[in-house]
This record gives sequence, structure tokens and C-alpha cells, in this order.
Amino acid sequence: MAHSNECLNESFQTLVEKSFIFEDVGNSHSLTVTVSEVLDPQYGMYVWPCAVVLAQYVWSARGQLQHKTVLELGAGVSLPGVVASKCGAGRVILSDSAERPLCQRNCSRSCDLNGITDITVLPITWGRASPELLWLPPVDIVLGSDVFYEPEDFEDVLVTFSFILKKNPHAQFWTTYQERSSDWSIEGLLQKWNLKSINIPLETFEANTDCLAGSTLPGNHTVQMMIITNNCL
Ligand SMILES: C[S@@+](CC[C@H](N)C(=O)[O-])C[C@H]1O[C@@H](n2cnc3c(N)ncnc32)[C@H](O)[C@@H]1O
Repeated sequence: MAHSNECLNESFQTLVEKSFIFEDVGNSHSLTVTVSEVLDPQYGMYVWPCAVVLAQYVWSARGQLQHKTVLELGAGVSLPGVVASKCGAGRVILSDSAERPLCQRNCSRSCDLNGITDITVLPITWGRASPELLWLPPVDIVLGSDVFYEPEDFEDVLVTFSFILKKNPHAQFWTTYQERSSDWSIEGLLQKWNLKSINIPLETFEANTDCLAGSTLPGNHTVQMMIITNNCL
């Protein structure tokens, strides 16, 4: 079962540590990751239902991560990125909006909790050509959990991924989104930016359950997983 501990940090926010346990079918291997949530209304300060589904995908696809550079966008508490690091990704970079330094601090806190010392945390705002984005090394896998929640930001997220493709046209964007509205669609934007997506059925990575990794997430929320790639290849 996931467990949680509460304490107060230096700015008297209530921090909650939550542990997630990823296991193979038959329990032959397992991984426990602890992340820190802040009981605060800022979006990136707690684990969203999409995060545990993407983290489960990362766990199930961990064989593809060796020697790969992984970038998480809108990482918040960074569960998928931390799982990628613990599963042996070559290099992991976590990022969140330049306007949300508290979310970046939370990324660092999640690394500390898991004894990870070699992750970089960067301010990367979707759609913005910042020095941090321009100076990124070639990225193989981009992670984005619940980054398609505000329709006005959808294109900015895809623009950022398109920029990453310029340095590595074979990069893949592993992303989960929550069905909040029946007219949710990024199809037109994928065409505009020469991208394509495939849906990854949840049952193919044992994520078709309400309670993943010993937690109560994703609960009754409908979460989908897809991989976006370059349409030119
Ligand atoms: C719904 S939360 C998801 C957080 C985390 N990925 C998860 O699933 O638990 C959205 C995240 O995107 C970040 N974000 C929002 N707007 C952003 C922007 N324009 N550029 C970069 N990050 C942004 C927020 O700070 C937050 O961490």
C-alpha cells in the first residue's frame, strides 16, 4: 500500500510524502518511489491521476530507457521522471514553468527523497524559446503527464516537442491525458506540426485499474496514454 507522512517545510507549507510501488506481474521485480506533495492549490504540487499512469508506462517500458536522455515537461512532483531515473535512464532532466519556481523546487525535493543526485531541474515554459530549451542536449524521450489540460496551451506543448525534434528527429513524446471533455482533440495541431500519435491501450501495460502502484490513483478518472512522434519518418 502507498503510505504518506506529513511535515512542515521552511515556509510552513504542509508537505506530504507519498510512496508508490511499481511491480512486475508475478512480483519478480519492484521499485518504490517516494514523492513530495505540497497541500497547496498550485497545479504541480501534487500527483495527478495521469502521473501514476505514465509512471506505470515508464516502469513497463524501462528496457527502452538505458543510455537514453529523458526530459519531463510540466513535471510537478515528477513521478514519471523519477521512475525513469531509478529504472536506469542515462540522463534525466526535469522541467516546469519558469513562472512556477515552487514546482521546480518540488522536482528537486522528489529527487532528494529518492537519493537521486544527477538530475537537472530546469525552468522550461511551453512554447517559449528560452536559453534552457535552446541549450538542451539531444533528448530521446519526452515525458508529459497531464500537460494537455488547458486547450490554449496545447499548441505550446507541441511546439516545444517540435523544437526538441530538431536536435533528435527520432525523439518520442510519451504522454498521458485525462478525459475532461468529450471534444478534447489535438488532431489538427498534430497535422499542423507534422506529428503523429498512437494510442497505447492501458491493458498493454497493466494500467487498466483504478489503483496503480499501491495508490488510490487514477481512481475513477479516465486517463489515456499516447506516443507522439515525427510524422516525417
Ligand atoms: C496538471 S499539472 C500536472 C503535474 C504533473 N505532471 C502530474 O501529472 O502530476 C500541470 C503541470 O504543468 C505545469 N505547467 C503549467 N503551465 C505550464 C507552462 N506554460 N509551461 C510549463 N509548465 C507548465 C504546472 O506547473 C504543473 O506542474
